[in-house]
Amino acid sequence: MLQAIQETVSYILDKTNHFKPDTGIVLGTGLGALVEDIEILAELSYADIPNFAVSTLEFHSGKLIFGVLSGKKVVAMQGRLHYYEGYSMQEITFPIRVMKALGIRHLLVSNAAGSLNPEFKKGDLMVISDHINLQPESPLRGKNDPDMGPRFPDMSEPYQRNLIEKALNIASENNICCHKGVYIAVPGPNLETKAEYNYLRIIGGDAVGMSTVPEVIVATHMGIPVFAISVLTDEGFPELLQRVSLEEILETARIAEPKMTKILSLLIPTL
Ligand code: HPA
Repeated sequence: MLQAIQETVSYILDKTNHFKPDTGIVLGTGLGALVEDIEILAELSYADIPNFAVSTLEFHSGKLIFGVLSGKKVVAMQGRLHYYEGYSMQEITFPIRVMKALGIRHLLVSNAAGSLNPEFKKGDLMVISDHINLQPESPLRGKNDPDMGPRFPDMSEPYQRNLIEKALNIASENNICCHKGVYIAVPGPNLETKAEYNYLRIIGGDAVGMSTVPEVIVATHMGIPVFAISVLTDEGFPELLQRVSLEEILETARIAEPKMTKILSLLIPTL
C-alpha cells in the first residue's frame, strides 16, 4: 500500500503546486456546502487521481479540494466512499492515508445519520463522542505495516475531548442545538427495521449511519486526532417510525447544513 500512497501523493503534489494541508475534512451525504467557504487553490476529481476509487453515488460529487478555510490550509473530500457501494474497507480509507502523507494533523468528519435518542430530533446536530462498529470488517484487517501504525491501535479516545468541548461551546454561543452522543456504524445500504432501531438504542447508540467509523479507525491507527459531527436527518424511534426516502434525508441535511458549516468553520481556526 505504501507504494500506492507514494504514487498518489506525488501526483497530487504535482497538480497542487506542492500544497501542504494542515487539516483534512470529509464531507458526508448532502453536506458538501462547506466547500463554498473554502478559498480553493486546486480541485481534483477522484476519477483523475491514481489509486482513488470513484464514488458510485450520483449525489456525491467525488472531488478532492485544496484551499484555505478560516485561515487554515485544508484538503476536503467532497463526497466519500461507502462500504455498501462494494468497495473494500482499504479502498474506502485510502484517501485518509493519502491525507496523512500530505501532512494533515487533524481530521474533521461529517455525516448524515438517523437519531436513536428520543431527545435528539430530526434537523439537530450531534457531535460524536464515541462509536460502536457494527460494520462487518475493520479497515485494519490483514497484514499490518508498523510504519503506518500499531497492530492493535488504542481506541480509548478516538474523538478528541478538547475538540468536542470547543465545538459544543461554539454551538451554544451561536444558539445552535447540538447534542453529544454515540454513533453506531452499520453496513447499509438499507435503513433499519423497527426492531433494529430498538436494538441499536438498547446497546448504547444515539445515532446510526453507514460511514465515518472506517475513516476514524484508520486516522486513529496513524495517530491523527479526529473530530466528527452528525446531522440527524431522520428519527429511528420504533413506535413512531415513518417511511423515509433518500430525498427527505438529503432535504433535511440541506436545511441543517449551515449550522454544521458554522461550527466547523469556527472550530478550524482553533486547531
Ligand atoms: N440509518 C442508517 N443510516 C442513516 C440513517 C438511518 O436512519 N439516516 C441517515 N443515514
